[in-house]
Amino acid sequence: MTNLLFIGDIFASPGRTMVARYLPEIVEAENIHLTIANGENAAGGFGITPQLADEIFGYGVQVITTGNHAWDKREVYDYFKRQQRILRPANYPAELPGSGLVTVRAKNGVDVAVINLQGRAHMIPIDCPFHKADDLLASIPATVKVRFVDFHAELTSEKVAMGWHLDGRVSAMVGTHTHVPTADTRILPGGTGYQTDAGMTGPYSGVIGVDKDIILQRFLTQMPVKMQAAHNSPELHGVIVEIDEANGKTTAIRRVERIG
Ligand code: FE2
Repeated sequence: MTNLLFIGDIFASPGRTMVARYLPEIVEAENIHLTIANGENAAGGFGITPQLADEIFGYGVQVITTGNHAWDKREVYDYFKRQQRILRPANYPAELPGSGLVTVRAKNGVDVAVINLQGRAHMIPIDCPFHKADDLLASIPATVKVRFVDFHAELTSEKVAMGWHLDGRVSAMVGTHTHVPTADTRILPGGTGYQTDAGMTGPYSGVIGVDKDIILQRFLTQMPVKMQAAHNSPELHGVIVEIDEANGKTTAIRRVERIG
């Protein structure tokens, strides 16, 4: 069996601290062979820098996925070109730096393909993630049976639909972006592990990571505000997927969380 750990959106320094504090223990206790994490909010909640990506890799994360905040920090553009283990959603224009697919070798010697896609409902209108998923899956060698998808999307219905689209063709799909963990963890009939959203690894004292007074002021006044990360009530949220590498099917999937 191959055990993957996926860590939901690492938000600002509270999120990074939680990864540093708990990742080694989880990897040990759960016999994790490969850790993937969404890092698009690592830099104060908005984007990721090469330094912060290296920091997260240093904690033991092997692949970093991103999303709509991939482009917030310009200094990461060149890094996308030279570091293959940081992904940006594959369905952005091809001329943008980076890739939405990488194959890495897990600790147990099994090759794992990791795909990063982004939704379009209530988000910017990039290429169709469903067709892009088809193209990417066709490009992966048949010998690479363990395949993981981070679908970074706003709408639960778009994510559920993607789960059905991918069922039986990937080992697992876990959603990100809403920063709210969902309790619909399951194995779809074709053997694909699924959860609509992994939830945030970061401060839960705010509004999906941002200082709550700032966000309340915006809702109350509709005036533009400067976003600032919240600091308190840090939590780590993720999903552990047990996959039979012989056929790429998920045999078990469950949520993992650490508080404070
Ligand atoms: Fe996002």
